[in-house]
This record gives sequence, C-alpha cells and structure tokens, in this order.
Amino acid sequence: MTGFSPEWLALREPADGAARNRDVLSATSRLFENKDAINVLDLGSGSGSNLRALAAHLPLHQKWALVDYDCDLIKAARTALSGWANEAAYVGESLSLQKDGRVIDVAFLQADLSANLNEVLDGPADLVTAAAFFDLVSTDWIERFVRGLAARKLPLYAVLTYNGEESWKPAHPSDATVNAAFNLHQRTDKGFGPAAGPAAAGVLAAALRENGYEVVLGDSPWRLTSADHLLFEPLVAGIAAAAGQTGKVAPEVLQAWRNAHRSPTACVIGHTDLLAIPPR
Ligand SMILES: C[S@@+](CC[C@H](N)C(=O)[O-])C[C@H]1O[C@@H](n2cnc3c(N)ncnc32)[C@H](O)[C@@H]1O
Repeated sequence: MTGFSPEWLALREPADGAARNRDVLSATSRLFENKDAINVLDLGSGSGSNLRALAAHLPLHQKWALVDYDCDLIKAARTALSGWANEAAYVGESLSLQKDGRVIDVAFLQADLSANLNEVLDGPADLVTAAAFFDLVSTDWIERFVRGLAARKLPLYAVLTYNGEESWKPAHPSDATVNAAFNLHQRTDKGFGPAAGPAAAGVLAAALRENGYEVVLGDSPWRLTSADHLLFEPLVAGIAAAAGQTGKVAPEVLQAWRNAHRSPTACVIGHTDLLAIPPR
C-alpha cells in the first residue's frame, strides 16, 4: 500500500483544484459538450476529489465508477461526496447525488489496479480519468494500460502527475540535493514495479501517441504561498522522509532543510495534465 491518508488528500484538494490546467480541462469538457450523459472511470480515486473538480465540466447526467484499493479511502469518498452534494442518497452500495443541476451516480469499486486493470477497463466508460496517480505506476504498467485503453478506443484525462520540479522561497543551499533525492525516491516501487515518477507524463504521452492518440499536455503546478501554511508541514515532512530513505542526504542536512522551510513564502511543485483523444 502506498498509504495516502484522507487528511492529506483533503489538505491538497484546494491546491490541486487551483493547479489544474484550464486549457486541458476545457478541451476535455469540449469532447462531451453535445452529450446529455457520460460514464466516467476514475483510477486511484482516493476520497473523490477528481469527481468534485470535474463534475461541473461534464454532461448533466453522469455515472462515475471510483476505483481504489484502499477501503478507508473509499469510505472517506462516500462521506466527502455526500457532504459536497446538494442532495445525496444511497442506492445499495452506490450513491446518487444531485449537485448544481447535475445528477451524478457514483459506484465504488475496491480493486488493485496493478493486478486487475483489464477487468476495471471493461466497465462502462466514455472517459477514463485519474488525478495524482500516474507518477506511482511503472513504464511497463503504462504501456499495458495504454494498450487496454486503445483497444477500447477510450479517451484519457490524467491530471496532476508530478513532474519533478520544485522551488522554494526563500531558497536553501540544499534544495537541489533534496529535490534530486526525492525524485529518486519517486522512482521506487509503489506496487506497480519501479515507478515512472517524474518521467510518467512523458512516458504516458509517448505511449499514447504511438497508439495513434492525439495528446494535449499542459502544466499544472502547485503555486503555494504563505496562505497554504497548513499544507507546508506535511509536504516538507513527506519530502524529507522520502529523500532520507534514499540514503543520499545526510540526516543533519535534511534537518537543516526542514527547519529552513517551516514557513516558506512561496513554493512551486510541478505537475503535468494530459488529455488523450483516441483515433477515429
Ligand atoms: C496521490 S493519491 C490520489 C487520490 C485522488 N485521485 C486525488 O487526486 O485526491 C493516489 C491514489 O491511488 C491509489 N492507489 C495506489 N495504488 C493503487 C492500486 N494498486 N490500485 C488501486 N488504487 C491505488 C491510492 O490508494 C490513492 O487513493
């Protein structure tokens, strides 16, 4: 398990929402502008923030399948989505939501995407999406995923894939060393084989193009300011812990780096958004 807590996902949700690339989002929305209804498959759905960010940009009737292997996050998604909607009702294990004129039915699927990818892709879908997910998977898994996607001629909207860039204000002399170690850690196995990490968006785009897809890419960096102070402590602690695990940075250097970034005035964490449109 990669172990993402609902608290961490809730803390990052506003930053993720602000970071989404507007051009890639608009292009995704335009793909479905003449439809009344859509089936969406969300991979690594966590507590459902991708649905909350995307619903207003998709047709009035939506059926979502939220896929995650972490049952605590599936539970958190039910709670968060019920709280977010104007009205929410359980229909068996699924949720039926009304939100600002949209009717959104949500099914929850607990599945390990490293093992059960094809079964998941066989579900009804007009769009596959994922947020903050693709940097966890391996190049081999991406290639398998793209073959499955292409065989079904499905479009993909994959957002907030970490791309390795980080900058801090005020800067610290160890920023580059810590960033390099963190990016090394990003390439370790997160359950799918050695992770593509910061290279993931590029690997994904290349595999999609090889399969005839038209690919639209856009930057979606977190641009954090002192107003995001609640995010800084877990963010800095998480980066330092991951960098420390590589053995590439001495503990005293990491401690000095953590101390220096207790209350930064600005921080940029780079991500990439991607829309892939299948060939006709
Ligand atoms: C960084 S979180 C992103 C969650 C959510 N998409 C968001 O943007 O808030 C990555 C998600 O992928 C899920 N995940 C990781 N490995 C998985 C696997 N093998 N099968 C299914 N879900 C997985 C985690 O449980 C977590 O919810």
